[in-house]
Amino acid sequence: MSDFETALSEAAARVEAELDTLLAVDAAPEARLIEAMRYAVLNGGKRLRPFLVLQSADLFGVDPMASLSAAAAIEMVHCYSLVHDDLPAMDDDSLRRGKPTVHIAFDEATAILAGDALLTLAFETLADERTHRAPSVRAELMLRLARAAGAHGMVGGQMIDLTADGAVSDIGGVTRLQRLKTGALIEFACMAGPVMGSASTPLREAVRGYAHDLGLAFQIADDLLDIEGDAAETGKAVGKDADQGKATFVSILGPERARSQAKILVDQAVEHLAVFDHKADLLREAAQFVIARRN
Ligand code: IPE
Ligand code: IPE
Ligand code: MG
Ligand code: MG
Ligand code: MG
Repeated sequence: MSDFETALSEAAARVEAELDTLLAVDAAPEARLIEAMRYAVLNGGKRLRPFLVLQSADLFGVDPMASLSAAAAIEMVHCYSLVHDDLPAMDDDSLRRGKPTVHIAFDEATAILAGDALLTLAFETLADERTHRAPSVRAELMLRLARAAGAHGMVGGQMIDLTADGAVSDIGGVTRLQRLKTGALIEFACMAGPVMGSASTPLREAVRGYAHDLGLAFQIADDLLDIEGDAAETGKAVGKDADQGKATFVSILGPERARSQAKILVDQAVEHLAVFDHKADLLREAAQFVIARRN
């Protein structure tokens, strides 16, 4: 395993232990909801967003216990977005992370509620003193997450994605769509560290530039995997974007140009980190990973 793979799997193990604690099983009448939340979250996944939180926090000397809380919060929002994305009213998928999606394993109403509860638990987690002793820092994290997840962030991107059929037909339109749908949560993950570590404006901007290019490259890779990957590796159905008439970088540029665009974005992402020393090496490798990954 490369240093990067080892670091990614260590981050995954740490965040999974934290999520397991946050989602404690109980015997209340609503236990089925907790069970569905646990199913949605503790089911594999690359844990890239938590990794970005932990690494960006490390860059600014943040207490690793504090960044772990923020890492768990962003992963809960991400998992909620996947549960809702897979619903019949949205992408209508029955496989996720190699297992039946939440609405298949449980039922649609439970999947909707599990998503809702994961979203709110993410904010509860950020609001907790354990995340940061300064209330102003916790407030900034919550404000950023609200913006990243909301109507002009992930949810807004999902709306455009669903209605894009024909309406988004150029590279500018698809860039905006992907920036909202996927980029916003990735940007939050990268910015959590600079926020918790009270980084200077130039350093925040460097990380933001990295996050912007990384997020776009990440979604291009996801779109390429939809046409070139296989379900056994990706753990989710492939070939669906074209069937559903989705506007993606691949539908607009074709696979070859999309692939070279992703490479350019990765190089740009790495260039943004030039202000940091070797401490940012794992973030540099993460940028290469997002386009090399097979799932
Ligand atoms: C999939 O995200 C959904 C998108 C935003 C494209 P990931 O590829 O990070 O999925 P997991 O968390 O590893 O399952
Ligand atoms: C989903 O994008 C992004 C969010 C859940 C916000 P996709 O619909 O392309 O993700 P996959 O391919 O189902 O993982
Ligand atoms: Mg979708
Ligand atoms: Mg989908
Ligand atoms: Mg996809």
